[in-house]
Amino acid sequence: MENWELLAFAEDVARGAGDILRRNYGRQQKIHFKGEIDLVTEVDRESERYILGRIRETFPDHGILSEESPEHASPSPYRWIVDPLDGTTNYAHGYPCFCVSVGVERDGEMAAGAVYDPLLDEMYAATAGTGAFRNGERIGVSGISDLRKGLLATGFAYDVKLSADNNFDYFKAFVFTGQAIRRDGSAALDLCYVACGRFDGFWELKLKPWDTAAGYLILREAGGVVTRLDGSAYDIGQPDILASNGRIHGRMVEVLRNARK
Ligand code: IPD
Ligand code: CA
Ligand code: CA
Repeated sequence: MENWELLAFAEDVARGAGDILRRNYGRQQKIHFKGEIDLVTEVDRESERYILGRIRETFPDHGILSEESPEHASPSPYRWIVDPLDGTTNYAHGYPCFCVSVGVERDGEMAAGAVYDPLLDEMYAATAGTGAFRNGERIGVSGISDLRKGLLATGFAYDVKLSADNNFDYFKAFVFTGQAIRRDGSAALDLCYVACGRFDGFWELKLKPWDTAAGYLILREAGGVVTRLDGSAYDIGQPDILASNGRIHGRMVEVLRNARK
């Protein structure tokens, strides 16, 4: 199967799921708590039912990893990695920052990915080796090379109140070394915003493959650099991620290293 065919399908299901999110946005949500702050709404589940239904119908032998369901393992070289609603806390509060993320691997390598923001109607998309696009137009990372001028983004994991590994030291270090920091609540969009130059860098500690799979490919294809926090090689199985326009990457690794001391 060609990458562009996989991408066309990923975009189509991400758009369909985005329609579900948009239709239900602003309505009172029935919320179920997975943890003190970790919640899931009926809309996460409806979006997931739609996406997984479409994948199973079209690619019955493919594997699927999706946030709100047990993994469907398969001997197929293809595995879909899905976040049916990234930014669910925002969504539940009516804060307009959330998306659908659909990525697909072939033999463990990201082949295609789509991240769709249904409110702004922005479709971020990439296939391996052919660049990254927003609504069909090529995107690229920012040209900022001085961290002091960089707009950065991060997030805090759901165990932030319980764990000493809570990102506060890194956050403080970047408050002093970057221009400003945003905490927008959707890791997939954070990665796409670095990809299109709205953000210059992004880091976070405890993410899951569905948060990063599509955004990671989109950012790489937009010319960005993605590593672990210590600068070593990243893959979507790793919990920590450092993503940037490349130009400020070394300096960000240094700030993180110093903050650890
Ligand atoms: C969350 C968002 C958030 C990040 C959390 C994620 P969810 O995903 O991406 O930005 O800080 O760590 O879990 O739960 O809204 O799909
Ligand atoms: Ca997520
Ligand atoms: Ca989610």
